[in-house]
Amino acid sequence: MSSRLIIALDFGTAEQALAFVEPLAPAQCKLKVGFELFVAAGPEFVRQLVQRGFDVFLDLKFHDIPNTVASACKAAAGLGVWMINVHAVGGAKMMAAAREALQDVANPPKLIAVTVLTSMDKAQLQSTGVAAEPMQQVQHLAQLAASSGLDGVVCSAQEAAMLRAALGQDFLLVTPGIRPAGSDQGDQSRVMTPVQAREAGVSYVVVGRPITQAPNPLAVIAQINANLGF
Ligand code: C5P
Repeated sequence: MSSRLIIALDFGTAEQALAFVEPLAPAQCKLKVGFELFVAAGPEFVRQLVQRGFDVFLDLKFHDIPNTVASACKAAAGLGVWMINVHAVGGAKMMAAAREALQDVANPPKLIAVTVLTSMDKAQLQSTGVAAEPMQQVQHLAQLAASSGLDGVVCSAQEAAMLRAALGQDFLLVTPGIRPAGSDQGDQSRVMTPVQAREAGVSYVVVGRPITQAPNPLAVIAQINANLGF
């Protein structure tokens, strides 16, 4: 079994990220590259991580017309990454086009969707013209992602149990906002521990600063893996 821990490499340069990755082994964790690092370090850096044997989640949250998103997904798959994502609000056609684009790819990446950003509260959502409660909208978009053939969604730990019950055992739930018991919450407001996340049915947890800023990242990784049952 491979680790269910995805470390968010939220670093500003390839050098910083590589220095952090140096002592890590691919069996211990997967790695997430988001906007900041991708814009700074580019696809070559992603290839380097893949060449080192890591499962890489390229977290670029594509959202555009179906044809453009399909092409972007195909290009991302060409980097050899393990997971990519799109915004579910792009709609069923966009998600189906993304799925279709990966059909002929050998070892295609897992394709997941972002539902409602956790930075959106009810008022923010209403201001964009969505009257539903955030939780209802999350469930609605997750169902749309599932029926469009996607492998899963990014969701908050609070939503995980509801989505696991609604969408079955095989649907991937990838969850940030995870804090080991006793660690600093940072700017995350609603957090869960790795043990709680596992109990809520989360497939993979995304953890950034509690690991990247720890004096001994390897010890924190080992603890989280143990808590996740790995
Ligand atoms: O440092 P921390 O553990 O808070 O990092 C969490 C990671 O997950 C960051 O890369 C952040 O951008 C990402 N993320 C999040 N909340 C979401 C979606 C993504 O924290 N709803």
